[in-house]
Amino acid sequence: MTFRELYGREPDGRWAAPGRVNLIGEHVDYAQGLCLPFAIAERTVVEVAARDDDRLRLRSLAEDGAWEGALADVGPGSPGGWAGYVAGVLWALRRAGHRVGGIDLLVTDTVPLGAGLSSSAALECSAALAVDELFGLGLGGSIAGRRTLAAACVSAENDVVGAATGGMDQAAALLATAGHALLLDTRDGTARAVPFAPAADGLVVLVIDTRVRHRLADGQYGKRRAAVEKAAAALGMPSLRGATLDEIRTLAADLMPRARHIVTEIARVRETVMLLDAGRLREIGPLLDASHASLAHDYEVSSAELDLACTAAREAGALGARMTGGGFGGSAIALVPVERVAALSDAVRAAFADAGFRAPHIRGEEPSAGAARVS
Ligand code: GLA
Repeated sequence: MTFRELYGREPDGRWAAPGRVNLIGEHVDYAQGLCLPFAIAERTVVEVAARDDDRLRLRSLAEDGAWEGALADVGPGSPGGWAGYVAGVLWALRRAGHRVGGIDLLVTDTVPLGAGLSSSAALECSAALAVDELFGLGLGGSIAGRRTLAAACVSAENDVVGAATGGMDQAAALLATAGHALLLDTRDGTARAVPFAPAADGLVVLVIDTRVRHRLADGQYGKRRAAVEKAAAALGMPSLRGATLDEIRTLAADLMPRARHIVTEIARVRETVMLLDAGRLREIGPLLDASHASLAHDYEVSSAELDLACTAAREAGALGARMTGGGFGGSAIALVPVERVAALSDAVRAAFADAGFRAPHIRGEEPSAGAARVS
């Protein structure tokens, strides 16, 4: 099925946005923390044509559920399914005062779904960039403008889809650059490119997709976020960004470990960035390991498959390994010397088979460029 077959004309263009891997700084983007994602090569691609009315026609080659309606039909909870991520972006841009009209859209390719690699943000951001260009909003060409687009994508996800996620994934998709990770300060929204080129150091970031489908909207994510907000309120602070470990120790027993994760994770991001800026990439492994331990024990968002992926990778020679993304399934990452990739991948697959888990998908990822028009 082509755009022409569906809509009877050619698209005005094609836009693509990448998925992301978060190197470190997990579950801190809604606590005004620091995170360090990078864009991956896998992209979501949308073909789009502007319409001269207010109708939206949305189709995907990757997922069921075509949607057709008016912009006025879009709002909290509507449309459901993947179409909400696209329609929500137009809704959010309009609510922010931008003049956008209807579109015909076909999703022709996608970042792997449910793998914890932010396929939803990639969909939002590719659509946002298309809409920006087709309606002449003038946002896609500058960093400040892209931050505005990212905010609309976050609003689509929070307000229309109803997933209370932070802004890391959208910032990564729109602002990341090849050969770098993106240091994102979610307190003031600023971002800085940090040199991150594993291949130059003889290393590979392996992504181990457990193929246990992760769902953000299932309640656990919202519970963690609520606990973190409650902890900040109990300390009389706007967020846990500035909290110290001494202050955290005064919290109630159910909140303390959650808050401790936030505070220690932000510190680990700072240390990681210091090492990367100093060209000492090979030394970040223990920080990745500590991040995973904190997510597994203090934050309790890991899973048996993610834990096994990390331990098996370490035993087979990874410099460090951790879950990445929201958790409860999805993917883990391992920083691996290039000469160990094949043996390590075999070892992880064997460990999964022994445990009776589904065979994981394993691939290397290079820090790639952010969203762009492709034709
Ligand atoms: C998901 C959310 C992000 C972030 C991560 C955890 O990917 O979309 O905003 O909170 O989980 O770091």
